[in-house]
Parts: sequence; structure tokens; C-alpha cells
Amino acid sequence: MYEDLKGKVAIVTGARRGMGKVHALKLAQEGVKVVVSDISEEDCQKVVDEIGKTGEEGLAVKCDVSKKKEVDELVKKTIEKFGKIDILVNNAGIAQFKPFLEITEEEWNRTLDINLRGYFLCAQAAAKEMTKQKSGVIVNIASVAMGQQGVGFPNLVHYCASKGGIVGMTEAMALELAPLGIRVNVVAPGMIETPMIDPIKQDPKAMEGLMARVPLKRVGKPEEVSNLVLFLASDTSSYMTGAAVVIDGGWLAG
Ligand SMILES: NC(=O)c1ccc[n+]([C@@H]2O[C@H](COP(=O)([O-])OP(=O)(O)OC[C@H]3O[C@@H](n4cnc5c(N)ncnc54)[C@H](O)[C@@H]3O)[C@@H](O)[C@H]2O)c1
Repeated sequence: MYEDLKGKVAIVTGARRGMGKVHALKLAQEGVKVVVSDISEEDCQKVVDEIGKTGEEGLAVKCDVSKKKEVDELVKKTIEKFGKIDILVNNAGIAQFKPFLEITEEEWNRTLDINLRGYFLCAQAAAKEMTKQKSGVIVNIASVAMGQQGVGFPNLVHYCASKGGIVGMTEAMALELAPLGIRVNVVAPGMIETPMIDPIKQDPKAMEGLMARVPLKRVGKPEEVSNLVLFLASDTSSYMTGAAVVIDGGWLAG
């Protein structure tokens, strides 16, 4: 579908399951060589095996995005194997549902370390490589919980802080990286069918309440978000940088 993606090299973080896995598979279908990265190398290898069945090449790399050493190793291994980085999909994330008054400092730090500092570490390390070729694309996965949208998310204070941070960080990065040929955008999904929403699904009443606010009356599919990630990764979106694109079944419009 996107001819220009053929032969490109992408890193997708948090790609052993959920949306990251689907982004990796969909990129591979476009002819992209994908580095599948997450906290379990075994799970990543399974995704790479799936990629192999489509005839594309992949690489599984264990990387905890909150650890700079592991992020540097991820970039090093990508360069060793494929020689360049064209696309980074910053996707790894955690969501802990807990009342504000009970969140410990450790829990706050863990969420921000993975969801925000991890994005910074991966983006900086990847961008340093992208500058060498004067081209590249970074897609940062935030959330409708990024703030300033007229919808609040109780019991997710640390998650919301991290997702809002991603948007501010992306805008500033976009300004600095535009002269270097690198575009940076945010994808802000609403509720998407992945293991992350299992705790919400366990409470049918909460789920019903949330769905009542979504005009399309359903949870989104990971593939639907991947379609947007592919668009932002390809030259088709060549005039877009510093943007936050919402994909939420109309939730924020309501
Ligand atoms: N599912 C939703 O409704 C929804 C909505 C908006 C945004 N998001 C965002 O989408 C992204 C993907 O989430 P998902 O819904 O696929 O959930 P998921 O839990 O299936 O995927 C998250 C992935 O991140 C990985 N991960 C966690 N900590 C990590 C770390 N320290 N280093 C590297 N990888 C780590 C997990 O192992 C997992 O594979 C996340 O950033 C999430 O915040 C999800």
C-alpha cells in the first residue's frame, strides 16, 4: 500500500503483544525490516517468526525501554543487523489503575520511567542515527488520556501525566528535528482491544459506561491503529510533524 516503506528499517518497542505486535506485523507486510523489541526476547522471537512467514526479515531484541544501557544496545543491534533506522514506533507502555491518593512514589516513578523517560531514551538514541542519513520518522503512542481534551481519567493519574508528557515532548522534538529531516508525531488512541484494557473489561458496568461515550459504540481494533501508524511512518504524511492524531471512535468529539 505504501511503496516508499519498502526496504525501510523500523524499531517497534513493546512489540511482543497488543498493538505493538500488530504494528510490527503490518510494517513487515509493507516490506519494512522490523526490529521487534520488548521485555521478553522469547515473545519477540515468536513475532519475528511470524514476520519470517511473510518473507520479510525481522530481529528480536530484548529491551526494557526504561534502561538506557538496553536502549543503546537495541540501537546498536539494529545498526549491526540492518545498517540504519528509518522508523521508530515508541509504543511500550504500562497502565496501572489506582486511586491518586494511594499511588506510591515507586509506582509513579515506574510509570513515568517506562511511558515517558523510555520514549525519550529511544527517540534520542534513534534520532542520533537518523540524523546521519538526514531522514527518519518517529511515531509516539500516547492516548486520549493525554489531557486538555475535555475528558478526564480517574485512577490513572500517573498514566495521564506520562501521556500528556509525550505530547509536549513530541512538539518540542518536532521543532528541533525538522531541520534534520526527522518528523515526529503522536498517535492518541481511545480504547483498543489489547491486554491493557483487561482490568476495565472485568467490570462490565464500567465498560458499558465508557462505551456509552463512544459514538462508534465499540472498542477499536489494534489493526485500525496500525493503519494510522503506517500512514505517519510513510512519506504519505510528509507534511505532518508535531501533530497529535486521535483515533478513538469519536470519544473526544462527544
Ligand atoms: N489499549 C488501549 O486501550 C490503549 C489506549 C491508548 C493508548 N494505549 C497505548 O498503546 C501502547 C500499547 O499498549 P497495548 O494496549 O498494546 O497494551 P499491551 O499491554 O498489550 O502492550 C504494552 C507492551 O509494552 C511492553 N512493555 C511494558 N513495559 C515495558 C518496558 N519497560 N520496556 C519495554 N516494553 C515494555 C509490554 O511487555 C507489552 O508488550 C501503550 O503505550 C499504551 O499506553 C493503549
